[in-house]
Amino acid sequence: MKIVICPDGEQATLLTARVMEDAIRQQPDIALGLATGRTMEKVYAALVQAHHDRGLDFSYCQTFNLDEYVGISASSAQSYRTYMNTHLFSRVNIALSATHLPDGMATDLAARCLDYEKSLLACGGVGLQLLGLGENGHIGFNEPFSAFTSRTRVVTLDPATREQNRGMFDDNLDHVPYHAVTMGVGTILDARRIVVLATGAAKASVLADMIEGPLTASISATALQMHANCLVITDEAAAATL
Ligand code: GLP
Repeated sequence: MKIVICPDGEQATLLTARVMEDAIRQQPDIALGLATGRTMEKVYAALVQAHHDRGLDFSYCQTFNLDEYVGISASSAQSYRTYMNTHLFSRVNIALSATHLPDGMATDLAARCLDYEKSLLACGGVGLQLLGLGENGHIGFNEPFSAFTSRTRVVTLDPATREQNRGMFDDNLDHVPYHAVTMGVGTILDARRIVVLATGAAKASVLADMIEGPLTASISATALQMHANCLVITDEAAAATL
C-alpha cells in the first residue's frame, strides 16, 4: 500500500480526482470501478470540472459501480443509480449504456450477480477501482466477516451501516433497506489498481486498522493489504492515529 496524507479533505479529494483523470487520459477506454457515499460526491464534482475545464473525455470509458440497494428502483431518489446519474453520468460525456450498476430490483438476484461478474470480465476487468471506507471497515457493502474471496452477491447490511446511511432515507431508519448487492472483496481485489479515499476524524480508527492492523475478515478493508497496487489517499484528521 502507498499512503498519501494530504493536509485536508479538500486536497485529498482533488488528488483522488487527479489520479482518476490521469488514468483516463492514459487509457481512454478504461473500465472504472466507482463508489458512492458522501466522500465521493466532491470527487465526482472535480471530475465534472475536469471535463468542462480540461476536456476530460469519458466517451470511451466503461463504469462499474460497487453496489446498489435491494428493493430500491433505479429511478428512486435513494438509489445509487440516481446518485451516479446526478453526480457524474448526466454531467459528463459518457453513454448511459457504458455505465453499469448492480440491479437491486431483479427477480433473480443471484443470476444477475453472476451476469455482473461476466460483464466485468467481458470488458477486460476493472482498470482503476475507486473505494470509500465504511466506519465498520466495509468496502462496497462487504460487511464484517465477508470472505476475502467473495464475489458479487446479495448481502445483509450491518445495523451500523444502515444507521450510517439513514441520512439518504429521510433520516428514517425504517426506510433504509436491509439488503444490498455488492461486488465481493475478491471482485474488488481483481482490479488492476485501487485508490481508496478516506477523510475525516470518523474514519481514523478504521483507517489505522486497514493499514496497520492484522488481516482479518472482521474488517473487510484489511484485504487491501494483499493488493499489489493500492493507493490510499487521506487527510490529517483520518491519519491522526497512524
Ligand atoms: C457506503 C457505500 C460505500 C462507501 C461507504 C462510505 O455505505 N456502500 O461504498 O464507500 O459507505 O460512505 P461515506 O463516504 O458516506 O462515509
